[in-house]
Amino acid sequence: MNAGDLVRSVKWMTSLRAVGSAQGLRSVRSAWRRHRVDAVGLPRQGAARARVPGVAQGADPEPGGGVVRFARSSLRVRVAAGGAVFCGWDGAVPEPSYALAGACPEADERAVLEPDTDGGWRVVSERVLVAVSRHGTVEVRTPGGVVLRRDLAPRWWEPAGAAAGGRWVQRSEVAADARFFGLGGRASGPRLRDGVYRLWNTDPGGAFGPGDDPLYITMPVQLVVADAGTHLVFHDNTWDGRVTLWEGEEGAGSGHDRPGRCETRMDGGPLRYWVMVGTPARVLHGWAALTGGAALPPAWALGYQHARWGFGSEREVRRVVSGYRERGLPLSAVHLDIDHYRGHRVFTVDRERFPDLPGLAAELKEEGVRLVSIVDPAVKAEPGLAEYDTGVAAGVFVTDARGREVRGEVWPGECVFPDFTDPKARAWWGGLYAERLAQGFSGVWHDMNEPVSFAAFGDPTLPRSARHALEGRGGDHREAHNVYGLGMARAGYEGLRELRPEERPFVFSRSGWAGMQRYGGTWSGDVATGWPGLRASLALVLGLGLCGVPYSGPDVGGFTGFPSPELYLRWFQLGAYLPLFRTHAAISAGRREPWEFGAEVLEHAGAALRERARLLPYFVTLAHLAQRTGAPYVRPVWWRSPEDRALRDCEDAFLLGDSLLVAPVLELGADQRAVRLPRGLWYDTATGRAHEGPGQILLDAPLSRVPVLARAGSVIPVAGADGEVELEVWAPAPGRTGGGVLIRDAGAGAGAGAEVVRFTTRSRGGVVTVEREGSREVGYRVRVRG
Ligand code: GLC
Repeated sequence: MNAGDLVRSVKWMTSLRAVGSAQGLRSVRSAWRRHRVDAVGLPRQGAARARVPGVAQGADPEPGGGVVRFARSSLRVRVAAGGAVFCGWDGAVPEPSYALAGACPEADERAVLEPDTDGGWRVVSERVLVAVSRHGTVEVRTPGGVVLRRDLAPRWWEPAGAAAGGRWVQRSEVAADARFFGLGGRASGPRLRDGVYRLWNTDPGGAFGPGDDPLYITMPVQLVVADAGTHLVFHDNTWDGRVTLWEGEEGAGSGHDRPGRCETRMDGGPLRYWVMVGTPARVLHGWAALTGGAALPPAWALGYQHARWGFGSEREVRRVVSGYRERGLPLSAVHLDIDHYRGHRVFTVDRERFPDLPGLAAELKEEGVRLVSIVDPAVKAEPGLAEYDTGVAAGVFVTDARGREVRGEVWPGECVFPDFTDPKARAWWGGLYAERLAQGFSGVWHDMNEPVSFAAFGDPTLPRSARHALEGRGGDHREAHNVYGLGMARAGYEGLRELRPEERPFVFSRSGWAGMQRYGGTWSGDVATGWPGLRASLALVLGLGLCGVPYSGPDVGGFTGFPSPELYLRWFQLGAYLPLFRTHAAISAGRREPWEFGAEVLEHAGAALRERARLLPYFVTLAHLAQRTGAPYVRPVWWRSPEDRALRDCEDAFLLGDSLLVAPVLELGADQRAVRLPRGLWYDTATGRAHEGPGQILLDAPLSRVPVLARAGSVIPVAGADGEVELEVWAPAPGRTGGGVLIRDAGAGAGAGAEVVRFTTRSRGGVVTVEREGSREVGYRVRVRG
């Protein structure tokens, strides 16, 4: 057991105390069982032989590039239509892949492999030049020849006797000024500093803060931003691994720059990766083209939502909902946690406490409030329980190397785990959502899908030797672990879409992997209540957005304990500008309703809620844009000016779409905020005062609000007092133009499409005008500000 495992075990033991000692004891047994299963099920770690590619011997052209043959390996380089570059060592090809959205993109026929100087080879394409040296170093350069990334020749360690397939490591260099982002949801981000980042989806146990790593969603996706350009690298490999980062250092003109470095180590699986280069917007567009556009949430899921572990009864749900109603506070959904299940069994209802869920759901829907259900993957191993019996009959549960059910310990007790890498298991699971729909739920919240099996020591998940279908190829948990949540998201999304095609599925999932956005979003998981947790909440949303997962948000107020009124309010004000705006807390935690923190908090939280409701048409537009372009709703402030180094280091503010810059208050007692502005003219939306960027300004941040700035020239679709969409236009700088887009749902179904309207704004001689593309009439009420 390493130090990280030990710390985690202690955290687990502590958190299990809350669950009761019987469960604590069973988790000791479960940990032993996992240990024993692996002792017989895993291949022995014998002596390993190291291998490097050796010297290039020749090359064979292929469409979009070709294969360079080395003495002891080969490298395939292929430029795909759209500009993404694929590199695969040892014969690796792009498919099969859990990340790719569909068929692998076609090769760009114009890109050809040609001999380079010094016995190397190169592939020149429209957007990128890839140079392969005779010793296997791969350089990704801009068309102008500037090196964005240098991947040194990899090294493999193969078990003696095996032809291939073992651990590998690849070291890379980037510019001295480069900054790293991504790798999934990292609490310490968004800028990833020097350190080791593990690639193994993990429930930290209890609650987490900025020092905890890894968390629920890890992905081998790095976004690297440097003066010379932005690039994204994705190692398409689901195995356990570690990425070590060292930021570079510039020699202050001495010519002695130290490049940034990165080392990727994987425990197995292919060495294949994709590289995309360009502006951040172009790179994320390329990533979405490869891995799929983000599922569009139903419009109501962009409103404010209230979750709680421990509502305990229908009566309590009604009490909370009427608390919002009576105070005139907008509420769009209520989330029921595991306490509404019968003995924590998934797809059941505790009928004593929740006698008529369909009735409750219908009643709430009348007033515009939806019900969302938690769904955990583990099924209680209990003969007679329909989900267990039908699962056994269908052969969908994960087994060990000897074909016996793998059992673990989760909320309901001893459980089995559906194998979501098996298409048959996904179809069976998707069908079970009919029960949730019949209970009146409008959406699902996937939890515990790293997957978690409580363990008093070691890794709280399934044995590494557990068998998985892996789409028919067969393999074990070492390969399947990181895509378990992704497979569950797919099963849930596809099940709901089939069961209720007239409504877009609403799925968000604690765990996942590259491509999870195709099925839905995520949330922070159990973020610890405290100012560091508030900061981590923003880091997670920003980092995940840069990995292609645009819809997420934290447990507002934090998962644990009792936030101070000030902390709760600041969290609430941040949440109001994030895609998933949801309060939630543990069963043992204090209250999270805005009226529980005194009159002042209630007043200001109410203002945040009303502002969120007003911005709903803008959020719907951003959701469509995220799906179409890959641009997350919440973007780092450097999004449009990655060359601005001061912005690259700014982690406490963000852009919401193109038009707004939000500067949340993340510190105790602060009533001002230093805000770093990107280039251009920005209006403080509270005072209307204009500020010219780039540069830093100081703004008031009283308890009543957080600073929000609007970009000059932007057109922001908002809900008017009568609920109709109107346009808030921020005056362009004199003599300049601006613009914006409004996208509206054309219907509620998954394929319903959308109505897209574009506007341009102009400021001439002190007069601001708005025009609509392709029409003489603007067609919407316009309010000019600034
Ligand atoms: C996990 C989830 C949390 C949920 C709890 C009980 O800790 O992350 O959101 O409330 O399980 O289901």
